[in-house]
Amino acid sequence: MAYAAFRSIGAYVPSKILTNEDLATMVDTSDEWITKRTGIKERHIAGENETTSDMGVEAAKLAIERSGIDSSEIDMVICATISPDYFCMPSTATIISTKLGLGNVTAFDISAACTGFVYILSIAKAFIESGMKKNILIIGAEKLSAITDYSDRGTCILFGDGAGAAVISATDNKDEAIIDVHTGADGSYADLLMTPNGGTGSPHDSLDQEAGACFMQMKGNETFKVAVRTLTKDVVEILADNNLDGTDINHFVPHQANYRIIKAVGDALKLTQKQVIVTVEKYGNTSGASIPMAINDIYEDGSLKEGELMLLDAFGGGLTWGSALVPFSPKK
Ligand code: ACO
Repeated sequence: MAYAAFRSIGAYVPSKILTNEDLATMVDTSDEWITKRTGIKERHIAGENETTSDMGVEAAKLAIERSGIDSSEIDMVICATISPDYFCMPSTATIISTKLGLGNVTAFDISAACTGFVYILSIAKAFIESGMKKNILIIGAEKLSAITDYSDRGTCILFGDGAGAAVISATDNKDEAIIDVHTGADGSYADLLMTPNGGTGSPHDSLDQEAGACFMQMKGNETFKVAVRTLTKDVVEILADNNLDGTDINHFVPHQANYRIIKAVGDALKLTQKQVIVTVEKYGNTSGASIPMAINDIYEDGSLKEGELMLLDAFGGGLTWGSALVPFSPKK
């Protein structure tokens, strides 16, 4: 049987920075409020003509370069995004694949909001274990600034832009294998976090009538409570299913939405500060890109070592959630 190994990571962060002080000149908020309630100090914003696929390409180039395989060996590309280059078609994955010159490989997007990276990890794992594919490029890329309402202080303080990518490859060495991935969803919470317009769920003639309806809208406080509950339950379950506990985890890499959520889940699992990876202060919430961007940070600062076990945990619009137990297994 083939196993799926997490071989490499890469990320891209646009250069422009939007600070809390900048936001305080745009809406009624303050650095003190944002820092206390979210832990966010700044977020990066893509250039006007910089697309989600442009950012995905830069992250992917690094991931491929670090994977030890040639780009011609990539046989599938999956992109997780809620801010695609084009809303219906073509998919952002096909654009990224072509910009990278990967040839006629299978390429598609999935929509699972902030859980997107965990979802595409589970898809890559399944395709590789089935023997259908051998080297899959997975990318979480978001230009959330394009779907953020900068007159809504409840959301505009949260979101940023960026991309992260990983190469998942077939191996026959079980010690290198992704151990498990859990994913779930509950559409009865759809109204907690949505972009109400732009799809068939809302007639086009109402587009202009509802201000801000093409932007993300969130019932923040309700979402917060479900997030803490769901994220904690999710990681407790995946650890128990695999006879592991918090002490087996080298790096807990949660979706970076709010420091208070991350801390609550880390405390519930009795994890140490060193185990819990926090990047929210510098990137804000980059949805599907947040987990691979955080993994890239610990890779680049040298703290992610070969063989170490990562626990990923995500939660987002849909609602969707997911967790994964992933050893870091660079090609030897
Ligand atoms: N500045 C100052 N005051 C503010 C701001 C702001 N930016 N935003 C809200 N407030 C005010 C509110 O109006 C409210 O005032 P009131 O008490 O007079 O009515 C007060 O602050 C408290 O508002 P809450 O919404 O209850 O604040 P809360 O502590 O819940 O923080 C936040 C809001 C940061 C949005 C938090 O709820 C959160 O992080 N939610 C979860 C986000 C999340 O995880 N989303 C899922 C992933 S995202 C994705 O999938 C794309």
